[in-house]
Amino acid sequence: MTSGFTLPSRFGRQGLGGCYAPETLLQPLLDLEAAFVAAASDPAFQAELKAELRHFVGRPTPLTPAPRLAAVLGLRSLYLKREDLTHTGAHKINNALAQALLARRMGKTEIIAETGAGQHGVATAAACARLGLSCTVYMGVTDMARQAPNVARMRLFGAKVEPVEAGQGTLKEAVNEALRAWAGNCNKAHYILGSALGPHPFPTLVRTFQTVIGEEARAQALEQCGTLPEVVLACAGGGSNGLGLLVPFLQDPLRRIAVEAGGHGAGLGEHAARLDGGRMGVLHGCRTLLLQDDHGHTAETASISAGLDYPALGPELAALILDGHVEVRRASDEEALEGARLLCEAEGILPALESSHALAVLPALARDGVTSVLLGLSGRGDKDLSTYQARTGASA
Ligand SMILES: Cc1ncc(COP(=O)(O)O)c(C=O)c1O
Repeated sequence: MTSGFTLPSRFGRQGLGGCYAPETLLQPLLDLEAAFVAAASDPAFQAELKAELRHFVGRPTPLTPAPRLAAVLGLRSLYLKREDLTHTGAHKINNALAQALLARRMGKTEIIAETGAGQHGVATAAACARLGLSCTVYMGVTDMARQAPNVARMRLFGAKVEPVEAGQGTLKEAVNEALRAWAGNCNKAHYILGSALGPHPFPTLVRTFQTVIGEEARAQALEQCGTLPEVVLACAGGGSNGLGLLVPFLQDPLRRIAVEAGGHGAGLGEHAARLDGGRMGVLHGCRTLLLQDDHGHTAETASISAGLDYPALGPELAALILDGHVEVRRASDEEALEGARLLCEAEGILPALESSHALAVLPALARDGVTSVLLGLSGRGDKDLSTYQARTGASA
């Protein structure tokens, strides 16, 4: 851990987060924090960001009532925060665009990114095309195969997609390669990390740029319903859409729930549920809840959704959970598919497999007596069509 940062880099009672970065990255991380702090109080930057979020991203996104699904489940009210309706189809664009603007302000001309489900890669490629920055996206080969439409979209936006063959060929390995590439080219390049992970200041930066979700949702709930729901609910991979939705509700008397990937079993390597299965460890520059084996090696993970199979939970979300501000549930692959089916048939909305994990816990919440829910629909499911077809028989 180094000094020299001005913002707090630790979260919660156990001091999660920090900056466990190689020497070569310390100065770039300090520069990034300084640029972020300056931009936060610069009205010109804030105005530009607001205008781009409106005209390019399509914000504010709607808070859509889902009365037919509510009736099926026995809920009094269900509202969906529609990040699936943003340009590029997921919440990832909020952070990608803001960081791209920050990079341009810092005089960087090249952007590096990693991606799992491909949504962050597509969002970054789109933001780079919009701002005239070159873009290289690292993506595991397993994810490239299961999220092929997003690989094509990144390439159409002019990005170079670098396949990562190491390990499981998923998000963890993609982050490794992106960090390596950034360390070798940090004078010209900025690394747009896609979730609230990594060394300080990335978790704070990403969370700040994503809280637009919850700020809008809270104001819309009060305006449209006159009251807040009993439960606010989001899926959790690294934690960026979860923090983005839940943090603005932290002072409110309601339940905040994050849903992790339960995969296809309870054993290590069969899921990505970090709360039950994880222990404190350091991965990609921060200390947090991490799935690891008895020797401390980062464990393999499994999930039907490419965006939820990261072995670590972002440090701020992990701290909020450990300190009792956010509850955790897990949803299995099968439950997520069922959650998606319910939404498709009752409301005509195809959710991303990641978002389907949040949908999957609705029946249990209704059975427990919950009557009103606001759910973060983090992305749209077009990228997952082939999985839905294969697993639900929709192609027949
Ligand atoms: C649609 C969607 N939702 C959720 C996630 C999970 O990421 P995070 O926890 O950072 O929001 C992803 C990640 O790729 C995603 O694509």
